[in-house]
Amino acid sequence: MVQGNRKIFLSEQEIPREWYNIQADLPKPLPPPLNPATNEPITPDMLSPIFPMNLIEQEVSTERWIKIPDEVLEKLLLWRPSPLCRAYGLEKFLGTPARIYYKNEGISPPGSHKPNTAIAQAYYNKVFGTKRLTTETGAGQWGSALSFACNQFGLEVKVYMVRVSYDQKPYRRIMMEAWGGRCVPSPSPDTHAGRVYLKDNLDHPGSLGIAISEAIEDAVNSKNTKYSLGSVLNHVLMHQTIIGLETEKQLKIAGEYPDVVIGCAGGGSNFAGIAFPFIRDKIHGKDIRIIAVEPTSCPTLTKGPYVYDFGDTARTTPLLPMNSIGHQFVPAPIHAGGLRYHGMAPLVSRLLQDGLIEAKAYAQLETFQAGIHFARTEGFIPAPETDHAIACVIDEAVKAKEEGKEKVILMNWSGHGVIDLASYDAYLSGKLHDYIMPDEDIEQLVCELKRC
Ligand SMILES: Cc1ncc(COP(=O)(O)O)c(C=O)c1O
Repeated sequence: MVQGNRKIFLSEQEIPREWYNIQADLPKPLPPPLNPATNEPITPDMLSPIFPMNLIEQEVSTERWIKIPDEVLEKLLLWRPSPLCRAYGLEKFLGTPARIYYKNEGISPPGSHKPNTAIAQAYYNKVFGTKRLTTETGAGQWGSALSFACNQFGLEVKVYMVRVSYDQKPYRRIMMEAWGGRCVPSPSPDTHAGRVYLKDNLDHPGSLGIAISEAIEDAVNSKNTKYSLGSVLNHVLMHQTIIGLETEKQLKIAGEYPDVVIGCAGGGSNFAGIAFPFIRDKIHGKDIRIIAVEPTSCPTLTKGPYVYDFGDTARTTPLLPMNSIGHQFVPAPIHAGGLRYHGMAPLVSRLLQDGLIEAKAYAQLETFQAGIHFARTEGFIPAPETDHAIACVIDEAVKAKEEGKEKVILMNWSGHGVIDLASYDAYLSGKLHDYIMPDEDIEQLVCELKRC
């Protein structure tokens, strides 16, 4: 017999109408991005060849609340507000006194949190007069989200998809094409950056860093075209705060407040989305733990130093102040494609430096085991990225049992894994391995980078 509601819904009228900008509340401001040629802070106009000015303004804004335009809300209402669910089945399986809540971002049309910012970015580009967007994608979640969003606002889009994921996940490409997007494997012969890598290895597995270089090169050299990034940047993280702002309202309805907030972290956007509104409380004195979870094969937060590094492999971006394992990093072919980025959002990196968040790393096999437990207790099959958050939730719930504590655990369920079934197949048939990145490899990749 269920004791309370399994799902807490908000009405469409209760959708948050402003995004939360954590830059207004940071204990220490973000160090500025630097121009690599001069090592001087970049000015907003230097970003204008790749981003529209309305998004650049958001990137540097320190206003605490930014109004969500009605045209954006109207599209977000296609699937938002998303339900906050109580994981009774998982709690029972673990025999834990902890109460586990998960925010289901898998119900969006592309199946993850990514369209929360894709819709906003497509809208601001449309208003600015952009006709075409370029982007990179790892697992294909971001590429499909941007294709969906561009379709909603009548923009063209070209997606450079990391080759290993392009081969592993053909269904993501088909989704992009269904929404009218164009998707090519990266490295591709279409750009100078891509050709450099193909020259040495026609089977190059690609990386997010290379795909970003290709997408930026294309945007800079094409007419009426801008570039769009699915994570890492301040405005992207801010668009995702709608997740945490809805959750705050939903937890209030349930009469709860979290002791622990957990999200997986690739570039940091879904983690930021659920966590930033609660970090605001923490800055103002609340006793709450916030945990970002990453793979041991790409341990940006747990092992990467806080440095100035490029956002892409071809060194075309400004230098960003972030935890990084080096822009030359080529990831092991793990199945959580969205968690293989060498850097971490400057905002998330800053919060780690300030001790406001913790970071943990999990190896691939444990995360898939966690995903299977979730699927068998709660029904929904999580994305391999989301499995990282679930592994940490399980650890925290087991700890609560050992300590006999009734804590409230909140997780961002960043996406479903129905298009990632090949990964589950590989796991269930014993073909997956763990990868743990050795410290010496990281040292080699970061030794020349300037510490922040
Ligand atoms: C389902 C899912 N979760 C998490 C991530 C990681 O990205 P981020 O850290 O920006 O949320 C991705 C990236 O593709 C994703 O598809």
